[in-house]
Amino acid sequence: MKHIYQQGSDPHAPTLLLLHGTGGTERDLLPLAEMIDPTASVLSVRGNILENGMPRFFRRLAEGVFDEEDLIFRTHELHDFVQKSAEQYGFDAKRVVAVGYSNGANIAASMMFHIPGALKGAILHHPMVPRRGIALPDLAGTPVFIGAGRNDPICSPEESEELTKLLEGAGAKVFVHWEDHGHQLTRTEVAAAAKWYKEQIAGQD
Ligand code: MLT
Repeated sequence: MKHIYQQGSDPHAPTLLLLHGTGGTERDLLPLAEMIDPTASVLSVRGNILENGMPRFFRRLAEGVFDEEDLIFRTHELHDFVQKSAEQYGFDAKRVVAVGYSNGANIAASMMFHIPGALKGAILHHPMVPRRGIALPDLAGTPVFIGAGRNDPICSPEESEELTKLLEGAGAKVFVHWEDHGHQLTRTEVAAAAKWYKEQIAGQD
């Protein structure tokens, strides 16, 4: 997959897996990694799907309606890519923290829904429920930050709450940060994620 890898200065820090929103690229979230953990290694990936020229991580049938078969295939494809990258670049595949926005947050959530131990933690900016009606793997103690908008027309507050309950039901330790805005990613939300990361992830094994 098209990607950028940046070796971090702290070998004990987790590796940040950056996953952009629809129409983005692997460059988009690099400033977030800088705010969240400037010492961590970064693997920033471009989604393999093109929708009218816009990169995405999986196909959708309509706005908010996912192609489940493709979602599952692409979730495993991304996970396999992370495993191979860990071998190639020499980072610990068991210590990967996803940072995703919108479509990127959705595939990060899908990794947690489908693949046990895929992520050590996740920062999900404006995620949706990736799939309904399936049993989740054991996520005991997995720290998850959800950034949600009270006026988000794409990921409604109800859907953010539903995702929180599903992750908590599997044992994840979820923190939800609410903004009064819509689907956009604000600086205050990223600052809240950075603060949460320092408390919940940095320096923990
Ligand atoms: C999706 O398709 O993943 C969501 O609708 C978010 C987005 O617009 O990318």
